[in-house]
Amino acid sequence: MKAGPPHIKDVPDLAGRRVLLRSSLNVPIVAGSIADDLRLRHAIVTLNYLQGARARTIIVGHIGRDPKESLSLVCDWFSERVPVRFAPNIGEALSMSKKMSDGDIIMVENLRQDPGERDNDEKFAKELSGLGEIFVNDAFSVCHREHSSIVGVPKYLPSYAGFLVIDEMDHLSDALRPNSPSLFILAGAKFETKEPLMRKFLDIYDRMFIGGALANDFFLAEGLNVGESAVSESGLSAKELLNHKKIVLPEDVTIIKAGKSGVKLPSEVVYNEKIVDCGPKTIEKLNLLAGDAKSVLWNGPLGTYESGYSRYTLKLAEDLSNMDAITIVGGGDTAAAISKLGIEHKFNFISTGGGAMLQFLADETLPGIEALRKNT
Ligand code: 3PG
Repeated sequence: MKAGPPHIKDVPDLAGRRVLLRSSLNVPIVAGSIADDLRLRHAIVTLNYLQGARARTIIVGHIGRDPKESLSLVCDWFSERVPVRFAPNIGEALSMSKKMSDGDIIMVENLRQDPGERDNDEKFAKELSGLGEIFVNDAFSVCHREHSSIVGVPKYLPSYAGFLVIDEMDHLSDALRPNSPSLFILAGAKFETKEPLMRKFLDIYDRMFIGGALANDFFLAEGLNVGESAVSESGLSAKELLNHKKIVLPEDVTIIKAGKSGVKLPSEVVYNEKIVDCGPKTIEKLNLLAGDAKSVLWNGPLGTYESGYSRYTLKLAEDLSNMDAITIVGGGDTAAAISKLGIEHKFNFISTGGGAMLQFLADETLPGIEALRKNT
């Protein structure tokens, strides 16, 4: 295994130094308030460390995909815990940074308001780098993106990983060495992005349960009718996965049809029905598999969680929280389900990453981590 990237805790004297901190601030905003603050609770660890070391911290991040979205609510969340001043843009942040005292914190508005962030524009990365003397990347959930604040800035500043990035790497590396019997629960959508991981983990884990829209791809490839259910664009190209002895598919599914819902066998679904969740028999089966397992890794909701079909995802979260196995979970909706139930403390590790978690598991590194390794 490769050595980890340099860690900010190994920098001896941070007092008075301007530290540009890239954090994971992308939280869901529902009806004008933060619906799940898991990422912020993790982000504050490195921020507190820098403040304790009397660094002058300029914290940057993004929120949502609409460039008009603002980090102001996120700044309010931090302000309730540490003194933070908000800078509406990088220019303003630069002039504010010149008047900082040791231990001060400034938060800069959503980086994605400037297209240079997503385009990994050199000019934008240079401008951003001007805010600090040292760069700390603590935004694990964004480390799979080749954006300016992730892979551009480390070209211009001495760069380090924050506590969250190191913690995620350590725990997710543990998931690559599970205790047997082991169970990997992979759900959600987009077969094409998950196939490499699926193949790799079939060699590592003893059983693999496939749920969510991914399971629909398997049903379709088996020749079943999935009606109006969500399926991946590419479909299941690798037919040998179909009868793989380690793969377990849902035994029953929850469907909706003209506003009414019901439970049936996957083989009974017809053209005008839509699979929105698994069913009770599937949860029983999953309970047996997880009950026998010593290590369980879970990513992705079992149903269309974002449209409100959360019943069996919540049930699985609750069941897993009471099991003896080592439990490592991740993905936005999965973490949100656990957070909603208030049972985070019953899991060994909850990753703040969705796509980043899966890509790290597949590649054992991420572009943002490699950028730190190159620049010690
Ligand atoms: C995140 O913050 O969750 C990740 O960057 C994913 O968001 P994105 O797909 O908009 O980059």
